[in-house]
Amino acid sequence: MKRLTAQQLREAFLGFFESKGHTVIPSSPLVPQNDPTVLFTTAGMHPLVPYLLGENHPGGKRVVDVQKCIRTTDIDDVGDNRHLTFFEMLGNWSFGDYFKAEAITWCFEFLTSKDWLDLDPNQLYVSVFSGDSEVPRDQEAIDAWQKAFSTHPTKPIKAEFSEEVHTFGGVKRIFPYNRDKNWWQAGDKGPAGPDTEMFIDTEGDLLENMRVKHEHWSKQTGNTEKCHINCDCGRFIEVWNNVFMQYNGLGGGKYEVLAQKNVDTGMGLERVLTFSQGQNNVFDTELFKSAFNVIFDQLGEATNLQEGKARIIVDHLRAATFMAADGVSPSNKERGYIMRRILRRAIVHGKILGLKGDWVEKIVLGYILEYSKAYPELEQNRRNILNVILEEEQKFGKTLEAGLKEFRKYKEVSGKDAFNLFQSFGIPWEITKELALQSGMDVDKEEFEAEFKKHQELSRTASAGTFKGGLADHSEIVVKMHTATHLLQAALRKVLGEHVFQKGSNITPERLRFDFTHTEKMSAEQISEVEKIVNENIARDLKVKREIMSPEEARELGAIGLFGEKYGDTVSIYTIFDPSNKEIISREFCGGPHVEQTSDIGKFKILKEEAVSAGVRRIKAVVE
Ligand code: ALA
Repeated sequence: MKRLTAQQLREAFLGFFESKGHTVIPSSPLVPQNDPTVLFTTAGMHPLVPYLLGENHPGGKRVVDVQKCIRTTDIDDVGDNRHLTFFEMLGNWSFGDYFKAEAITWCFEFLTSKDWLDLDPNQLYVSVFSGDSEVPRDQEAIDAWQKAFSTHPTKPIKAEFSEEVHTFGGVKRIFPYNRDKNWWQAGDKGPAGPDTEMFIDTEGDLLENMRVKHEHWSKQTGNTEKCHINCDCGRFIEVWNNVFMQYNGLGGGKYEVLAQKNVDTGMGLERVLTFSQGQNNVFDTELFKSAFNVIFDQLGEATNLQEGKARIIVDHLRAATFMAADGVSPSNKERGYIMRRILRRAIVHGKILGLKGDWVEKIVLGYILEYSKAYPELEQNRRNILNVILEEEQKFGKTLEAGLKEFRKYKEVSGKDAFNLFQSFGIPWEITKELALQSGMDVDKEEFEAEFKKHQELSRTASAGTFKGGLADHSEIVVKMHTATHLLQAALRKVLGEHVFQKGSNITPERLRFDFTHTEKMSAEQISEVEKIVNENIARDLKVKREIMSPEEARELGAIGLFGEKYGDTVSIYTIFDPSNKEIISREFCGGPHVEQTSDIGKFKILKEEAVSAGVRRIKAVVE
């Protein structure tokens, strides 16, 4: 494979697709502009959804880009050889233009041609959608791959591979997988389709190698499954995904065929770079060099444990730098909360490593310097980035010092202690757990969570004076109105649009009051339509379910609302759904309580709709 720098790889990708008639477009910001369903841009697809659904893109039907992305779902895996919270996604797009045959031919050409990446095809494996009762096997993709591989014959693999996934039609490079692996959709609704993924074998030619990674992994985990390209042993690294968006998700697992067939692709810049530079670890690329230098200038030679912590630091500070450049600052809710968590994690690990002085500033400045050619917004916002990050460092640094001192006093760490560290010193649960593990101690998570809940109840009761009849009032009628409020928000979003979000809510035994974002006065028809939908949903006897999960998981499930909890790694989500077909009517962050089934609510009636301030409307309603 050709040895490239990050900038050369960006330019090669854009140049290749430009030569295939694509228009180069800039990265969108990390903060989604028109998509309130996600906190950060997690894939190149997000900013382009309107064009995938048929709107005309000013760049035409073929565009290519390098998109900044943040994904925090795998945050606990950061420190291994391939997981990152911030990454760059190289993507080529067809909006109703070319489809599978061209997309796959070009993938193969870009990866293996001597003029481009020059990857040995013997190191390349691909997966395709195997088909199920709803959607057939992706034969078109299989045919295109077979054709591509036949231009560049590869040596056969010796099967030490999982039989279930690998054999059909004598093909040994193309592996079918089901929906878990080879299907892409961003949410229950919207563009979706089968995908094909490309993997690089980090151990090269299977005939000559002894499957070192897999054997090591099997020994460590006791897992006896045979290796396959999606195996967790890490031998095969996914580098590129091509999604063939030919369906539109209608919700509840139902699909219609899209009028326009699209291609949405995502290639991980850091991963490809790793191989191009002869490494098998993303942290060994030049992207992190200056940041590691700051750390190891102080530490000297690193142990494995230190190396792991250093990886978390360099990953998290890079993500925070890019977040700050796009206007995010640490806070206790939504994206600010994610940024705070990431920054604090980096700072705690730095502290544990014993880093001193202005190491955070030096690392951030290094990133600004190195990334500004590709992302000029870093240099343009240099002062703001530094202010935001260093202010958080200073704020957190003070309490952290005291918290660590407190921690060192413990011979054992109870769940209560962990809560105390968290509440008084801002040390997140996961950090306490990690500190404890290092000292050979275990912490009781259930006790921590119980303590956390107790605290919530207390603060709720304490605030009951301010929000009279609010969440602390669990009388039957208030509980009914609370569930009705969720149904109201869902109905408003259906009738007025998805820009509708709760701005405030207040419930007394006499009425519910709901403030929401919307610029115009509602018409009489809209009001009666909303009322009708709420009453229909009440009559459908929908079920109301509570679940506890991480804020990231909740967001990925499409939950709306604020992070009600000020601290903590878990949030409470209420889902109102139809048990007969699993249709989800509403999913919100909420502490509760709620009725168990909507038929308990009674009849819903809107009393009044009025303005509160510019862009915010208010509804008062009752249930009878
Ligand atoms: N949207 C696809 C992904 O993010 C390409 O993997």
